[in-house]
Formats: sequence, C-alpha cells, structure tokens
Amino acid sequence: EKGGYKHFMLKEIWEQPRAIRDTTLGRFSLDSGKVYLGEMDIDDEELAAASSINIAACGTSWHAGMAGKYMIERLARLPVDVDYASEYRYRNPIPDRNALGLLITQSGETADTLAAQREMKNLGSKTVAICNVVGAMVAREAHGAIYTHAGPEIGVASTKAFTSQLTALFLLALKLGQLRGRLDKEKSVALMEELSRTPAKIEEVLRISSPQCEQLAKDFSNARDFLYLGRGIHFPIALEGALKLKEISYIHAEGYPAGEMKHGPNALIDETLPVVVLASRDESDPASKLRYEKTLSNIQEVTARSGRVIAIATEGDTTIGQLVEHVIHIPATIELLSPLLEIVPLQLLAYYIAVRRGCDVDQPRNLAKSVTVE
Ligand code: F6R
Repeated sequence: EKGGYKHFMLKEIWEQPRAIRDTTLGRFSLDSGKVYLGEMDIDDEELAAASSINIAACGTSWHAGMAGKYMIERLARLPVDVDYASEYRYRNPIPDRNALGLLITQSGETADTLAAQREMKNLGSKTVAICNVVGAMVAREAHGAIYTHAGPEIGVASTKAFTSQLTALFLLALKLGQLRGRLDKEKSVALMEELSRTPAKIEEVLRISSPQCEQLAKDFSNARDFLYLGRGIHFPIALEGALKLKEISYIHAEGYPAGEMKHGPNALIDETLPVVVLASRDESDPASKLRYEKTLSNIQEVTARSGRVIAIATEGDTTIGQLVEHVIHIPATIELLSPLLEIVPLQLLAYYIAVRRGCDVDQPRNLAKSVTVE
C-alpha cells in the first residue's frame, strides 16, 4: 500500500504532481479560456456579486487559505479575510449576506470548520467548500463544492492535500477574476498554461531537492529550533514549512514574515539557529522582484548575526549562493504558483529530519488525522 515508499508521507509527497494534475483535470480549457469549478449550486452572477470572501479553515488548510487570499486579491481584486475556524465563531463576525464563505478542509469533517460554516450560514452567507473527501459533511452542508482530487491522504501530516488546495484556490481566483472583468482570455490562458506546467516542475523539484534535503537533515537534525521566513504569498508557506517540522520531528519551529524579524525575533539569531528563507522570484513581475530584493536584505541580517540560512531560490539565481550556506533551487514560475514548488523541499526537509530523529512520521504523537472535536 505504501508503493515501495518507507512511509505514507513520503509516498504522498511524491504523489503531488499526479494530485495536481487530477485536481485540474477538466477544470479549464486552453481553447476557450474558461474555468469549470464543477459541483456548484451558486451561479456565475451570484459569484460575481460577492462583496468579499471569508475563508475559515484549520492548520495546513488555513495556510492554503492564507495563500489563496493573495491569489484571489491579486487576480480578482476581491477582498478576502482568512480566519482560523476555531476563532471565527467567537469573534462575533459582522454579518454581510453578500460575503461568500469559503471552507477549506482535507477531511471535510473538522469540527471547528463545520462550526464556522454553520455560523456563516446563520449570518446569511452562501458557502463553498474546498474538500478532498467526496460527500463529506462540509460539502453536503455547502452551496458548492470544489473537490480536490488528491486521493486518500493517510499520513497525518498533510502534504498532497495542501498543494491540491492551492491548485483549487488558484482556479477559483481565475474564475472570480474573469467574472469580475479582471482577466481577459489571453491573460487567463497564460495563467492556465503555467498551471498546467506546474506538475512537471514539481517533479523536477522532487528529483533535485530530495538528495539535498536528505543531506541537510544530517546537518540539522539536532537543532533545537528553526525559523522559516517569507514575505507576501511566501509567508504562509513559511508557516506551513514550520508546521510540518513541528508536527513530525517535534522540533520547535516558527514561521515569520521576513520583514518582521527586526521588530523582535532578530534577538533569537545565533550560530545554532537554522533559518529557512523563501527567496524565489519572478523576473517578469516587478512586485515579486521587489519582494525578492527585500528578502535578500533580510537574509543578510540573519547571516550578519551568524544564523545558518537555507534558502529556497529560483533556478539561475547566482546571487543568493554567495550569501548563504545552503541553497535549494526551484524552477522559475509566476509568483502566485511558486508556493506549490516551494513547499516541496520544506516537506522533504521535515520528513528526513523526522526520520533521522527516529520519529513516527505517519502517526505523530498527540495528533489525529481528522479532528472531530472543537
Ligand atoms: C497538518 C494537518 C492539520 C490539518 C487540520 C485541518 O499537517 O494535517 O493541521 O490540516 O487538522 O484538517 P482538515 O483539512 O481535514 O480540515
């Protein structure tokens, strides 16, 4: 059942190209430039009329939601709020019947997420679920479901479900961008083409970064703490990288917005602290280049204090290699899709560190795959 892999988690990490292909299958047409989200009881007019989007989710799915906020706000210019499902209900949300509720959940059975959905419905909103399990409670309760087709995820640490959720969010952002008149056919098709190249790019990341991460695990498996840094859409990926490490290797790890380091956490940096920095760039995108430049200065702040940097950078970037101890290169892509590539080496790093520490990778202590209590 593990298909020759030592753990389900490793198998599921390697399944990501397939999972993303399946999630996009039949969902867009390069000829017409159209997006087909499928199982929706909400028509296009209603979607187009949404005044904002409220995302609620937990854990890894919440990180996908954070990245989705950048996708939707960038492509559709529609405001997005992202809540931890466990917080949403208790913050006394302000009713807005025209806000669309969006629940993101692998299992579709997470109690906190279901409670947030109920609250959204009580406030008069329609809800859409991005869910991996067909027929799960959240999908039955929703007005529309966008199923991810990652296939059953057995490892407690979520991997392929996460990248499939990012894929579904990208498709939703495309759809909303079109409905709101922000994306013409030409732009849409260009984005879809890049999405369809992503699985092959992930295959390349897997091939190249696996041996690198295995090697890095030897150097870093005894670290007591880890920091993960990123800006913009890379920040939720920093959070997700830190969560993977925490939950399977039991090493304390924190994700932080790179620009916030100088407001406190810089005090933590010394020669024992590994700092993973997400520093990819899209040369054709001025906003991405600017973020990259700022991230480079953040890297220098870490190295100046003897922190040990592992950078995730874009192929062809020769600058970063001169600044830091370790670089993992990923193929170039548009910034909104870079999270799908960046998270892969972070999953592998967490995996190989956990294996070296003798942890039960597929069944971490104190955790359950589906959390059905609030
Ligand atoms: C982390 C992880 C959890 C889940 C969270 C939500 O690797 O698996 O953080 O992401 O419990 O679960 P779902 O997506 O099933 O609602």
